[in-house]
Amino acid sequence: MTKIKVFHKLLKPYFSKILIAGISALLVSAVPGSTVLLIKPVIDRAILEKNLNLLKVIALAVLALYFVKGVLRFLHSYLMVFVAQSVGRDLRNKIYSHLLKVELSEVEKKTSGEINALILNDVGRIEIAIPSLILLIREPFTLIGLMTSAFMMNWKLSIFAGVIIPIGLLPMVKITGILKTYGKTIQENIGRISSLINETVGGIKVIRSFLSENFMKKRFSKLNETIVKGFLRYALLQEGLSPFMELLGAIGVALVIFYGGYQVIRGETTPGSFLAFITACGLMYEPFKRLNASLTLLQHSFASYERIENLLRWKEEDEGGKLEFKGLKKGIKFEGVSFSYGEEEILKDITFEAKCGEKIAIVGQTGVGKTTLISLLLRFYREKSGRILLDGEDINKFSVSSVRRHISFVPQEPFLFDGSVIENIRTGKEDAKDEEIIEASEKADIKHLVQNQKELLVGERGEILSGGERQRVAIARALLKDASIVILDEATSSLDTETEKRIENAIKELMRGKTVFIIAHRLSTVKNADRIIVLKDGRIAEQGRYEELLRLRGEFYRIYREQIEGY
Ligand SMILES: Nc1ncnc2c1ncn2[C@@H]1O[C@H](COP(=O)(O)OP(=O)(O)O)[C@@H](O)[C@H]1O
Ligand SMILES: [Mg+2]
Repeated sequence: MTKIKVFHKLLKPYFSKILIAGISALLVSAVPGSTVLLIKPVIDRAILEKNLNLLKVIALAVLALYFVKGVLRFLHSYLMVFVAQSVGRDLRNKIYSHLLKVELSEVEKKTSGEINALILNDVGRIEIAIPSLILLIREPFTLIGLMTSAFMMNWKLSIFAGVIIPIGLLPMVKITGILKTYGKTIQENIGRISSLINETVGGIKVIRSFLSENFMKKRFSKLNETIVKGFLRYALLQEGLSPFMELLGAIGVALVIFYGGYQVIRGETTPGSFLAFITACGLMYEPFKRLNASLTLLQHSFASYERIENLLRWKEEDEGGKLEFKGLKKGIKFEGVSFSYGEEEILKDITFEAKCGEKIAIVGQTGVGKTTLISLLLRFYREKSGRILLDGEDINKFSVSSVRRHISFVPQEPFLFDGSVIENIRTGKEDAKDEEIIEASEKADIKHLVQNQKELLVGERGEILSGGERQRVAIARALLKDASIVILDEATSSLDTETEKRIENAIKELMRGKTVFIIAHRLSTVKNADRIIVLKDGRIAEQGRYEELLRLRGEFYRIYREQIEGY
């Protein structure tokens, strides 16, 4: 129960509502017990003594009791749903804003499905569990009320029943535990099948093209079969044993009826007391069931909350220093920079300089670390040793957000949001006027996407656009941002030579007057660079201008030969 404390933080802002709910739940819990107490006078004094007036009064009293109970029940149920939904909203907001801030390496450890499940399923479980917190107050008191009434009616019988009935119920508790583990296995398999379906929808083209239908079908039907087997095993235990359990319970009840009836016959108690007693016992079943269900819900929610807490503990991205970077004035310097994602060093001792306004090209084979190099500038990751200097100051002295504010970045895989082309371009500058967006799209050669179909939606990850169009949207976005440093990561790799020519101007425009880092696949794109940095095995193998490097007959020349011969 100490775990209930974890809810303390979440529930604190809603304390007053919970207090009202708690009080009304307590009042509600008094009703069943009081009703039971009314049964005795109904039988013994109204019916057996033929007192019609008393009967009327009692009937009205019951009505009044249940009217009040109804109102109070509505009040606390609604309040608790309100609290639960508010807590859910708070949590979702909290997780999402945290997600936006955490360190990239943390996010990369998880799949999007896992994070999704956390925000939706786990928060959902907490939302469901919160209203049942109030049942933890209401049902025990209802039970206490009923037990008290039963005791007042017939204490001997109460003690007798209190011993006999639980003995009958004991095996049930054991079985419920086993059923729970069975149920969990079933849930896990259902989860697996749902991931498999997601995978299938996402990878349908790969599946078709590799003719993997049969393989997938086998995987699916195997899982599907496991689920059926799980359910059957569950049903066998539940349906097979529950009549037996019920019989045990019935033996207890029969003994109680027999003993109670025997007392009535002997005149030790009245028929009214006996009936009231039996009613009280009957009324105890539901609260017990609900209490048990609430405890299960709460347990699930604790596990969910633990997972959420884990995510909330993910380290946040370092915000960097206090200084505000106001745009590049002199230049950028890398001094002996090394970096590794894990054990293996990806970049080693990188030293070079980019003066303000220079165009620096970075070339090298796939996987050599080009994207990694510019990721350091964008502060996605931190250098492990060495320094990066902006205008002579260590980059770590500037706040990360101010550095990013002055970089226009066109990523290798341009990411578009599910929205319109216009909205996607606008991410470059949130308060851009429509004319600015049109201008940018014109320069990036996607005016047709913006003008003809004003609200053209790009679909999830921009999948209705071609690779080239996506990249041009990304260029338009960078143009709109108009930052003093421009990074193009193979920005033209998915464009055919024809289209590439068409947006050459756009890229020129994007680069004009800026300090540019351009990672390029095709060497033709880097011809005009002020300096080309050639990476090999994580080190700078050569640097210089295009012709110089060709004359060196080194790594650059080798890549150059490969490309010409490839064509
Ligand atoms: N987020 C990451 N976590 C771990 N390893 C990575 C990550 N990103 C890239 N790598 C690895 O670092 C190396 C360099 O990658 P990258 O910089 O993308 O190369 P390039 O852009 O030159 O093709 C590759 O071996 C790649 O597998
Ligand atoms: Mg790359």
